[in-house]
Amino acid sequence: MIEQFRQDIEAGLSAAQKSLPSHYFYDVRGDELFQQIMAMPEYYITEAEDEIFRNKTQEIIDALDVAESNYFEIIELGSGDGKKSKRLLRKLLDKGHDFTYQPVDISKNILDHLEKSLVTEMPDLDINTTQALYVDALAGMKDTPHKIIVMFLGSSIGNLSDDEATDFIYQLGANIKPGDLLLLGVDLKKSRNIVLPAYNDAAGITARFNLNLLERINRELGANFVPDNFSHRPEYNENEGIAYSFLVSTAEQSVYIKSLKKSFRFSEGEKIHTEISRKYDEATLKRIIAGTDFTLDRRITDSNGYFADYILKRQ
Ligand code: AVI
Repeated sequence: MIEQFRQDIEAGLSAAQKSLPSHYFYDVRGDELFQQIMAMPEYYITEAEDEIFRNKTQEIIDALDVAESNYFEIIELGSGDGKKSKRLLRKLLDKGHDFTYQPVDISKNILDHLEKSLVTEMPDLDINTTQALYVDALAGMKDTPHKIIVMFLGSSIGNLSDDEATDFIYQLGANIKPGDLLLLGVDLKKSRNIVLPAYNDAAGITARFNLNLLERINRELGANFVPDNFSHRPEYNENEGIAYSFLVSTAEQSVYIKSLKKSFRFSEGEKIHTEISRKYDEATLKRIIAGTDFTLDRRITDSNGYFADYILKRQ
């Protein structure tokens, strides 16, 4: 794990256009900051998807096409605090469905919190937490005779390039069987005056989240980044529908990373690319799944048309 981190950081900072992989945002501090981002008024994504799970729970259940008498398994990739999923789980329990909920996360901390809250809030729920990488958690799932519903919410898919997204969905399909479903939450393309503030909240939480990546490199690889010498800069290309996050060096500087025994130079204004957050339209999503075994089955949106939960069916 640490070796992979070292290699990725070295490769990213040695490239002509410097970059750092966004999945390294999520250490304990990063998880905390992301929870705070989701509560920011500018970060419309969380509320938009929550509205779907709050007001259209029955529509989701209808689309999942599960009978009360048939046992099924819900596997949630990257469950977070489970706020949205709990709305669905509660309704499924109330309606007498027979199922197991398997939240998967790489963070034990997050899973422990979720399990604790579920045990008190829904004592009848059959829960099976799994600390693993998503692909590892899905390996072998196609051998179960029961229907599998994989949930991947919050537009987390949007942090992958389109090619990576195709790959990810393809792998997912390879681990489940025909008739199984993917409930995929995606943020929709919209104007920059809505998207950009979501990645640049006035309280500066997103900036701290982005800068935490440098602090993590300091903590884990013994680097001497001075976070104050970098500033957070989001950009949004409205035509393309992609928000980009950068850290911009505010001075000519050099940073030493002890565990790499290397220094890296940054010129004033030089950008480190840290994240993409893709916004989708149906054509983009169709292009992404064209190389996979899934077809689009249903689309459920919030009242503003900001966000969509798609039900994709494994063929
Ligand atoms: C997890 N992911 C969908 C978030 C997003 O919107 O791209 C991560 C995030 N980065 C900055 N703010 C939120």
